Amino acid sequence: MMDIAEILKGKKLNEKVTVCGWVRTFRANRFISLNDGSCHSNIQCVVDYENISKDILSEINTGCSLKIIGILKESQGKGQSFELLVDKIILLGKSDSESFPIQPKKHSLEFLREKSHLRIRTNTLSSIMRIRSALSYAVHLYFHKNGFFQMHAPIITGIDAEGAGDMFKVTTLNNIGDDIKNDFFGKETNLTVSGQLEAETYAMGLKKVYSFGPTFRAENSNTSRHLAEFWMIEPEVAFNDIFDNMDLAEDFIKFVINYIISNCYEDLNFLDIRFNKEQLSKPSEQRSSLGLIERLKFIINNDFVRVTYTEALQILIDSKPNKKKKFKFLIENWGADLQSEHERYLVEKHFKKPVIVYDYPAKIKAFYMRLNDDHKTVRAMDILFPSVGEIVGGSQREERFDKLVERMKKLKINQDELWWYLDLRKFGTAVHSGFGLGFERLVLFVTGMSNIRDVIPYPRTPQSAEF
Ligand code: 4AD
Ligand code: MG
Repeated sequence: MMDIAEILKGKKLNEKVTVCGWVRTFRANRFISLNDGSCHSNIQCVVDYENISKDILSEINTGCSLKIIGILKESQGKGQSFELLVDKIILLGKSDSESFPIQPKKHSLEFLREKSHLRIRTNTLSSIMRIRSALSYAVHLYFHKNGFFQMHAPIITGIDAEGAGDMFKVTTLNNIGDDIKNDFFGKETNLTVSGQLEAETYAMGLKKVYSFGPTFRAENSNTSRHLAEFWMIEPEVAFNDIFDNMDLAEDFIKFVINYIISNCYEDLNFLDIRFNKEQLSKPSEQRSSLGLIERLKFIINNDFVRVTYTEALQILIDSKPNKKKKFKFLIENWGADLQSEHERYLVEKHFKKPVIVYDYPAKIKAFYMRLNDDHKTVRAMDILFPSVGEIVGGSQREERFDKLVERMKKLKINQDELWWYLDLRKFGTAVHSGFGLGFERLVLFVTGMSNIRDVIPYPRTPQSAEF
């Protein structure tokens, strides 16, 4: 049996074909729009109702599943090039028209989130998820084309890679206070917040590796850009410094975006129209000056800006974001972390391009980042994107044993737990660097959606783990 995507290429013109799918609409007892998820388009099936039993026709409504056999013809109607003249219909699964929630009308994204098991049958969600799938493929394609090896980092771990403490505990103990020695692993464990530290061990043997897996953060941020469970892409490369790392990140992001422009035209075009409509409903100062596809092309065709934290801070201090309204978080002290309003100002108002901010103050960044000669900043880099803000966080790693131990002591990181991480610095240490790109933030940007909950099948957020 062929997918509708294949049939709509028209290769089987005037031949008998069989398709299966779900009914999107059934009009005038004659026109069935069938979709099987293989592409955005429906196939229009034209019923000659004299040949098809009334009993079957009366059971057909939005949401039911059908098998249809018919002849592929060039379409008489507008809006599609092929249609199926129906010979036979087999009703596979009925759908109660009263209670089926996905009616052929516009539903709000909030409503659809409550029906996440059925929302994949809508145009918007199916386009997003096909693009998500293509993006995932493009990620693997990029790394394999460029000589990287995929490394599966563990999901259950005893370490807090970011030293931030926002972790989900993994335990089989029933009571808080039970002896940890009786726990499954005989020690405290958690769901990983990042595969980086393990990826580093592999980079120090395979040179170029990447991990791409689920990561978990128990931070209580109920925002449109945070999930408790998200997927992270983490390349790690031995002998690369921070500037090689920036080159890699920029080249990688441009490759995957270009892949989507070249391979997902139909879905992207649909989302582009949706995006442009949505812009019109926003106040003019919040509107994107570019359409979705234009914006993606702009990213590919322009260099990312590179500025140090200190330079970025000066820009923010000198800026008058809006004469009446200043930033909510005033930024004046060197050493303060950038808030998302500052990041967005740099990207959307000042540079109007993706921005790589690097050399952050040591005290706001993780223990493993390489200390600069000024002893105040570390070789960290964040990539900031329009509308999504931080899309990448990475760094050159501290490869000097003594300096790493010093930083760990200062930040009270347990050295006994990380003995193996320190070992890397004893046996053939080398400059190395890597980054983490939040996959959902990438999907968010590429699809032009505004809430991260709409670009992952089953979002996990504070107080919500349905399905
Ligand atoms: O900046 P982060 O915390 O960096 C790391 O975890 C490093 N260990 C990565 C590395 O160097 N290998 O996270 C990396 C990226 C962020 O830039 C953001 O895109 C995404 O992960 N991210 C989230 N995405 C969705 N929901 C959350 N709660 C996220 N937290 C981080
Ligand atoms: Mg970060």
